[in-house]
Amino acid sequence: MQAVRIHEHGSFDVLHLEDIPIPEPGPGEVRIKVAWTALNHLDTWVRRGVPGHKFPLPMTPGCDFSGVVEKLGEGVTSSSEGQRVAVAPGFNTVPSVEVAEGRHNLARDYGIYGETCNGGNAEFAVVRAENLIPIPDDFPLDQAAAFPLTFLTAWHMLMTRCQLKPWDKVLVHAAGSGVSVAATQIAKLHGASVMVTAGSDEKVQLGLENGADYGVNYRTEDWTKAAKAWTQKAGLDVIVDHVGVDTLPKGIWALAKGGRLVTCGVTSGAEMEINFAPVFFKSLSLLGSTMGSLGELKQLSKLVFEGELSPIIDSRFPLAEVAKAHKRVSERQVFGKVLLHVS
Ligand SMILES: NC(=O)c1ccc[n+]([C@@H]2O[C@H](COP(=O)([O-])OP(=O)(O)OC[C@H]3O[C@@H](n4cnc5c(N)ncnc54)[C@H](OP(=O)(O)O)[C@@H]3O)[C@@H](O)[C@H]2O)c1
Repeated sequence: MQAVRIHEHGSFDVLHLEDIPIPEPGPGEVRIKVAWTALNHLDTWVRRGVPGHKFPLPMTPGCDFSGVVEKLGEGVTSSSEGQRVAVAPGFNTVPSVEVAEGRHNLARDYGIYGETCNGGNAEFAVVRAENLIPIPDDFPLDQAAAFPLTFLTAWHMLMTRCQLKPWDKVLVHAAGSGVSVAATQIAKLHGASVMVTAGSDEKVQLGLENGADYGVNYRTEDWTKAAKAWTQKAGLDVIVDHVGVDTLPKGIWALAKGGRLVTCGVTSGAEMEINFAPVFFKSLSLLGSTMGSLGELKQLSKLVFEGELSPIIDSRFPLAEVAKAHKRVSERQVFGKVLLHVS
């Protein structure tokens, strides 16, 4: 089969389309004929490498993918050949208290397809049967690849970590990022007011079309001042941050008393100086968040299938043009998801 393979970390030229054997599903697993696979910023980390982190090279990237179940491994009764599915990107392989309690992402063995093992940038992929999310007959397979990782991440950030309330005033940074498109929709769906920031007027406009109440281009306007005015000087109740050093230290000052800042990433850099005075003075919560539980993903999937939440597709490329797709994500031109068409 054809698969994108990474043998060493580096620029776009380390992404090779190669012929490799079709993987066989083991007990409890299924093989999927992949239709679509979506890029996440995580794919760019997998390609570039992360200091101090070891990826299982050579490997096939791709955390998000959809397709049709093509072969069942031994003992699988929960699925059938021909079933149209999305895939939960996070998996566990051993029983644990965390899994039993539905806190899958906190278990020590938690892994992510396309990061800790082979993923879906390929014609076929093998996944655990419990990771299948059956999709309705009329639900498009491209949309099915476009939502799991980012909507799960944003859901866990807002609903579980921040305990979002309808009266919250929420700031979502980088409105066009996959996580932020999801966060904007999830916050609006639960009655909160949302302000977004983005690096261009066009992305701000698209953020408003995605449901945000207010938006600023942080390159031409000071978003902290804009947030102060938007909240009538009270400050923000919630900040969704994955930008890191460029936004997080200022965010602490922009929060209201009792505010929560939740972070799932540090795209602009991880090392930063933080003044902790407002943290205790204003009783703030600084919350870390990674992925979420299988239960959360199943819950939000229903809302996606009912049209209450809708991933935004920025662009589509054939699998063979994976390097072009990575370039588009890295150049920050994207609003929503970049997809690779497989079959
Ligand atoms: N922990 C988790 O579970 C988890 C899950 C998903 C994602 N993440 C992390 O969250 C971040 C966002 O992921 P994503 O997939 O939503 O990203 P994405 O779709 O690639 O969007 C990233 C956006 O961030 C903004 N940005 C700000 N500073 C940047 C910089 N220095 N370099 C590049 N972009 C910058 C850009 O928008 P503007 O041009 O408008 O500023 C860019 O379009 C990533 O760091 C990712 O690794 C973590």
